[in-house]
Amino acid sequence: MMMKALVRHEYGGPGVARVEEVEQPELEDERVLVRVRASSLNKADFHQLRGFPRLLRPVTRGGVRRPKSALFGTDFAGVVEAVGKDVTDLAPGDEVFGGRTGAFAEYVSAINVVRKPANVTFEEAATMGIAGLTALQGLRDKGDLQSGERVLINGASGGVGTLAVQIAKALGAHVTAVCSTRNIEQTRALGADRVLDYTRTDFTREGERYDLVADVAGGHSWSALKRALEPEGRLVVVGGHGSRHQLGHLAGLWLSTRLSKGRVKFYVAQFNKPDLQTLADMLESGQLKPAIDRTYGLAEAQDALRTFGEGHVRGKLVLTI
Ligand SMILES: NC(=O)c1ccc[n+]([C@@H]2O[C@H](COP(=O)([O-])OP(=O)(O)OC[C@H]3O[C@@H](n4cnc5c(N)ncnc54)[C@H](OP(=O)(O)O)[C@@H]3O)[C@@H](O)[C@H]2O)c1
Repeated sequence: MMMKALVRHEYGGPGVARVEEVEQPELEDERVLVRVRASSLNKADFHQLRGFPRLLRPVTRGGVRRPKSALFGTDFAGVVEAVGKDVTDLAPGDEVFGGRTGAFAEYVSAINVVRKPANVTFEEAATMGIAGLTALQGLRDKGDLQSGERVLINGASGGVGTLAVQIAKALGAHVTAVCSTRNIEQTRALGADRVLDYTRTDFTREGERYDLVADVAGGHSWSALKRALEPEGRLVVVGGHGSRHQLGHLAGLWLSTRLSKGRVKFYVAQFNKPDLQTLADMLESGQLKPAIDRTYGLAEAQDALRTFGEGHVRGKLVLTI
């Protein structure tokens, strides 16, 4: 059986991505076959598109010279079409969301899939996978964020940041969120207790101290970040914008993990069903409200990738499929 999918046969910018007819994925015993209705864009998809960083290609096993699989994309929401013989918790017709490489396609065959709450759309549920798990695992597991603690989220207006603000509130923290001028209102509406405009205020020089800094946007050295931390405060390095200057800071932060007695944590978010279920519960209870900047059709995917690559999305970009 054939399906429509966004594919790239070589590494490159958004211009190498095109919609083609390809073979549908096979249903394996422990997987469910999902008819994808919506997907969302993440930095990970961009790395898959560009095959970047080059040095990491051998370890990511995506193909050194060209992609091993033409399919890419990760987050999805859709309807279960069929279930493998070992699947007991889902059935055809269930509305679900989850993550699996190859999600920019009409069908995906996946393990990490949970039921979509009825009060959210496919588009909203499709924003949860990578960004939601990154925010949840960063704050709760790596940051060990406790109720009543003060957390600062640097980079609060993008895919990960908008969810991190809400998850930190749900965990009972006092949240200071850092974003640019045009995103102040959105960030307040997400529930942040304090909002700092990074074009006017450098949070590392403000004199305030936090139990946890979740750094999504990057751009500060460890010695600067230490000024914003309580003496035993923790730093979770979520991401950064990837400039040469930033890479220098990241290298410094990585070295500081050796010297900081566990106060600095790097991590890569992992898909698993219990954490997806936690996100589903938060959606259902209204603790999480996805922020969607814009929705594109599959035929407009190149535009969506270009916009995402510019790095100033408010919340998430969604692809309907
Ligand atoms: N560790 C992991 O497992 C993991 C997983 C997913 C993502 N990440 C990383 O997390 C980062 C964010 O991902 P994302 O999906 O949220 O990206 P995104 O949606 O593109 O978000 C970028 C946001 O960062 C803001 N920003 C840019 N410069 C800033 C600054 N100097 N201070 C504060 N905010 C700034 C932008 O707001 P303005 O337009 O207002 O500037 C934009 O809203 C990326 O580096 C990504 O690689 C890590």
